[in-house]
Amino acid sequence: MSKSLDSTRSSKQLSSDMNWKENIVYEIYVRSFNDSDGDGIGDLPGIMEKVDYIADLGVTAVWLSPIFDSPNRDYGYDVVDYRKIHPEYGTMEDFENLIQALHDRQIRLIMEIVPNHTSSDHPWFQESLKSKSSPYRDYYIWRAGDEKGNPPNNWTSFLGDSSWEKDEETGEYYLHTYAKHQPDLNWENPKVRQEIAQAMEFWLEKGTDGFRVDTANVLSKDMSFPDTEDTERIQGSGEPFYKNGPRIHEYLREMHDSVFSKYPIFTMGEASQVELEDVEKYTLPNRGELDLILMIEASKICDESNDMWQSKPWELSHLKDIMRKWLKDLHNEAWIGMYLSNHDHVRMVSYLGDDEQYREQSAKMLAVFLMTLRGTPNLLQGEELGMTNAHFFNSIDDIKEQQALAYYHLMVDERGEDPETILRRVLHKNRDHSRTPMQWNDEEGAGFTTGKPWQRINPNREEINAKQQEEDPNSVLDLYRRMIALRREHPVMTLGTYEPILDDHEHIYAYFRENEQERWLVVLNFSRTATVFEYSSDIAAELRHAECIVCSDEWNIDDLNEGQSKLQPYAYYVFRIKEN
Ligand code: GLC
Repeated sequence: MSKSLDSTRSSKQLSSDMNWKENIVYEIYVRSFNDSDGDGIGDLPGIMEKVDYIADLGVTAVWLSPIFDSPNRDYGYDVVDYRKIHPEYGTMEDFENLIQALHDRQIRLIMEIVPNHTSSDHPWFQESLKSKSSPYRDYYIWRAGDEKGNPPNNWTSFLGDSSWEKDEETGEYYLHTYAKHQPDLNWENPKVRQEIAQAMEFWLEKGTDGFRVDTANVLSKDMSFPDTEDTERIQGSGEPFYKNGPRIHEYLREMHDSVFSKYPIFTMGEASQVELEDVEKYTLPNRGELDLILMIEASKICDESNDMWQSKPWELSHLKDIMRKWLKDLHNEAWIGMYLSNHDHVRMVSYLGDDEQYREQSAKMLAVFLMTLRGTPNLLQGEELGMTNAHFFNSIDDIKEQQALAYYHLMVDERGEDPETILRRVLHKNRDHSRTPMQWNDEEGAGFTTGKPWQRINPNREEINAKQQEEDPNSVLDLYRRMIALRREHPVMTLGTYEPILDDHEHIYAYFRENEQERWLVVLNFSRTATVFEYSSDIAAELRHAECIVCSDEWNIDDLNEGQSKLQPYAYYVFRIKEN
């Protein structure tokens, strides 16, 4: 790790010579990973049982979804105690055992910190509610409504209701950019910043190797709270007034200087609505803020801008544009985390791939894609098996996540829209697709639980499960392991330049990765039809000296004389170009 260490402390973090950027992060959505006690909910001892599986995968870090005590309306993103583990997930001892077991295997533990809001059940908020003069009043953002009894402004929350909730007792409104049971903390108040800093130190002292900072770029608001003119937008219409807000860099620098810089850790900021210059500001090392921004754009490629529940078809040219921006145009010392799936989106094989006829093949192609991109990759549990969306969800009762339920309620009950249309949208895009339990084997509980799972298990556990793939040398899992090993062996995959070619090709996505020592070419067919790869003379000249290191089909060097190769549906080729 390249960070300076305060010599007065003995650090419990994992040390290594690897550049921190070369981490490969595995997201564990704890609730759905592995249940050790039969209550149907994943837990820390459950993760402990799988540390060897995680080590065999080859990842260097795991990121745990929030494990703090929470009423679970947003499954841990509504915190009631930043220092207490939710009893459903285990005890502090379980946590300490897990961190030790991971460190023993050279795997870092990244925790989630949720700094923008707490649960409305948090004692700070309960105190804040008591009176306008409560010492905790200023921990949150309270404002009076207007003379006509309207909220302080017209912003909508990310759940689509007003961003302001009235407290009848004191007559004032509090701000919630997310759900009304997730009141926003007031980052203008230094005591709030200190509380969060101390909570982070608490976990760092236990050896935590870093944080995913939830909604990292929304902490600073335009405190004049102007109305938005964007009244068409359903969710988060106030965004321009708090994304990358006026004091955000000051706050992050303070966090960095008072906490992050004292430990050899890395921090990943969740941030949407960021442009190149924002990410540069957040991550250029000399600024001392965050280490990387998780690049969200690819996973939102089919969202309509005014209503994220409405989809548009995605296009390869758009995906290429997104990648060009973040992998090529970004200042080379600024840094991003790359992911295609996480707990907030649908599963990548079902949306960038084809989860029917070509499920296995497209999952493999996407594995090659993710593992050959510049940046620090994050993969979601189950992605390494090619787990799919939950096509078996068929009623609103199957959905557990609050954003989807809020949207359904808003559109159907309040706006009187057609329930069938809204249900279709919600079933298509809800976040539960990525949260169905991990499929360890083909049994009824998928090896995830012996009890009743908190969320339904995908019936395709019979074909898609870890046990079966462990035994199959050609499985998606096996390819992930090989790609992760390749990436670890060749820093060019993380740090090298990214040079796309064939920009206008509708099906083929191809790019060079290069550093001073090595040059690689990746060629992917992003479609369910076979397509032709035509070699320009330059590429043919390079490929005469190439070795195909990972290929879906045998590559025939004679094709170079023909000037073209036929690529099968979802074909993938990773070539190492040898010196002349
Ligand atoms: C982030 C989390 C998401 C959560 C939201 C509110 O976007 O990834 O799961 O609901 O923040 O905390």
